[in-house]
Amino acid sequence: MAIQWFPGHMHLTKKAIQERIKAIDVVIELLDARLPGSSANPMLAELTSGKPGLKVLNKQDLADPARSALWLTHYNALPATRAMALDASEATPARRLIAACHELAPGRGGMAKPMRVLICGIPNVGKSTLINTLASKRVAKTGDEAGITKLEQRIALADDFYLYDTPGVLWPRIIVARSGYNLAASGAIGRNAFNEEEVALALLEYLIRHYPDALATRYGIAVPVGVTDEQVLEAIGRKRGAVLSGGRINLQKAAEIVIFDLRAANLGRITLETPEEFAIWLAEGQKVDAERQLKKKKPLGSPG
Ligand code: G4P
Repeated sequence: MAIQWFPGHMHLTKKAIQERIKAIDVVIELLDARLPGSSANPMLAELTSGKPGLKVLNKQDLADPARSALWLTHYNALPATRAMALDASEATPARRLIAACHELAPGRGGMAKPMRVLICGIPNVGKSTLINTLASKRVAKTGDEAGITKLEQRIALADDFYLYDTPGVLWPRIIVARSGYNLAASGAIGRNAFNEEEVALALLEYLIRHYPDALATRYGIAVPVGVTDEQVLEAIGRKRGAVLSGGRINLQKAAEIVIFDLRAANLGRITLETPEEFAIWLAEGQKVDAERQLKKKKPLGSPG
C-alpha cells in the first residue's frame, strides 16, 4: 500500500533525540496495544543506543487481553526492557510507570541525580493523554504549535523526575506491508493519506481469519470458512444500507464503517498482530526491501 503521509518533523526529531540521548536514563516507547509491532519505531533502538527501555502498550482497553499478555512476555524477555499495558487516562496504573523507570535505572533519583526519561511514540498513540495523566494537568502538545518547531519539552513529574517529550512521528518508509494497513486502520495516519477500501479489505482479511465471531456478531452476517474480504465488505454494506442507485454496494461507505468500528472497539477488543506473526512479516518485509535496494543500486543495463 502506498501511503503518502508527510513525515513532518521526522528528521529534526531524530536529531533532537540523538542530541538528548546522552543525558537520558530510560526511554519510554508508547505503543498501540492493538498493533505493538507496527507502532514501534524501527529506528528507535539505533537512536537510543542501548538505553534501558520501557515499552508501554497503550489503549489496552481496546486490545485483546490474551494477545497483550503475549506481547508483554515478548518484551519482558528482551535485555534491559520492561513492558506494561495501560489505559493512558487512568492515573493509578499510569503511576506504575514511574516505579518501572526506577527499576530500570536504580542508580537515579534524588535531587543530585534526577531521573531523566525520554518518551516517544507515533501520532495519536496517546502520548499527550498519558503525560497529562502523569502530570495531573493539561500539558501543551510537543511539536504541535503553529509556526513553532518545538521539538522537545521537559515536564517535571517530581523534583527528581523529568520527562522529555518528543513530537509523535512516523517514519517515511514502512517495509512491512501489513504495518501500513494496521497503522492506517488504527488512526495513526491521516485520513487523506490512504485508501479506505484497501485498508478495510486488508483488515477484514485478518478479522475473517482471527475474529470471525466478532464480525458475525457486530454485523449480523455469516462468516463461513473460505469467504473473501470482498464478500464480507459487500455483506456489511448491504446490511448497513450502504447501497448506491442500481443496487450496487457503496464500498467506500462500507469501508468507513468497518474502520470506524475497529477504532471505537465496536467489534470488541481486537489486536491485529501477535509477536510471532509480526516477526514473520518483518523478516519478509526486510527481504523484499533488501532486494529492492539491490535493484536500485544496479547500474542501468546490467543483467538481472
Ligand atoms: P498523541 O498525543 O499521542 O497524539 O495522542 P492523544 O493523547 O492526543 O490521544 C489520541 C486519541 O487516543 C484521543 O482520542 C485519546 O483520548 C485516545 N486515547 C489515548 N489513550 C487512550 C487509551 O489508553 N485508551 C483509549 N481508548 N483511548 C485513548 P480523541 O481525543 O477522541 O481523539 P481522536 O480519537 O479524535 O483522535
